[in-house]
Amino acid sequence: MDFSDRDGLIWFDGEIVEWREAKVHVLTHGLHYASSVFEGERTYNGKIFKMQEHSERFIHSANLIDMPMPMSAEELNKAKMEILEANKLTDAYLRPVAWRGSEELGISAQKTKTHIAIACWEWPSYFTEEAREKGISLKTSKWRAPMPDTAVTASKTAGLYATHTMSKHAAEAEGYTDSLMLDYRGLVAEATGANIFMIKDGKIKTPDPDCFLNGLTRQTLIQLANDNNIPLEVCQITPEELKEADEVFLTGTAAEVTAVGKIDDTSYAVGPITRQLRDAYESLVRA
Ligand SMILES: Cc1ncc(COP(=O)(O)O)c(C=O)c1O
Repeated sequence: MDFSDRDGLIWFDGEIVEWREAKVHVLTHGLHYASSVFEGERTYNGKIFKMQEHSERFIHSANLIDMPMPMSAEELNKAKMEILEANKLTDAYLRPVAWRGSEELGISAQKTKTHIAIACWEWPSYFTEEAREKGISLKTSKWRAPMPDTAVTASKTAGLYATHTMSKHAAEAEGYTDSLMLDYRGLVAEATGANIFMIKDGKIKTPDPDCFLNGLTRQTLIQLANDNNIPLEVCQITPEELKEADEVFLTGTAAEVTAVGKIDDTSYAVGPITRQLRDAYESLVRA
């Protein structure tokens, strides 16, 4: 499936354009210098889950990379609903993206304009049904989540994903589904597009997102664990501690709640707490 060659409509700088016409010039600043931020959102039964929070994070991501954001959260919300309706989609994935244009090309980019596009398409599940039941597999990456003063780790900005793509390629080359990224200290960080949780003796643990994205799904899962009276601690997790876990799962807008069946050579069961929270999440997003 070539993403440039599909039927549909894309919201593009305030206009609704044909999918195949949503193009940018090769001298676009965002393409050369990664001056670009994006979001990944899902709509269930016509309602975008955490729409406002995603719009706010989108603006925050742009602010963090010093890129002016010309739209308010309310305007972004309106544009998202508009493009979903134009495409007649009620259950879909949305991809808002903002980037510096081709008005100037060089490291300094004061004269560039921030452009915005929002695409949406049907995307049932990030991982296959079989992977969902057995759990996916992760291979520990040689790439690390960087120190917060080395990269803009709280921004969902394009540049951070270069190491994520390389990590995922390396994992896939060895037959794994995704990769586990440690942080600059060697502690457990996240997967390439999702946050990680472990369960040991009935207690959930998840790392503090001090050098990687604090996912909205992660925040939702913490709330769901509280609501279900399952003890949860946000703390540092070493790879050795992760090996001893009873259950491991990932969270993300695309991944939703996905059980992990294997990390490197260690296997995990798709256990009762993962199933309970996965069910709770699936009910919540459709509520
Ligand atoms: C690197 C990374 N971590 C975590 C997440 C999970 O974030 P969220 O739950 O907000 O989708 C994502 C997905 O956006 C991601 O790309």
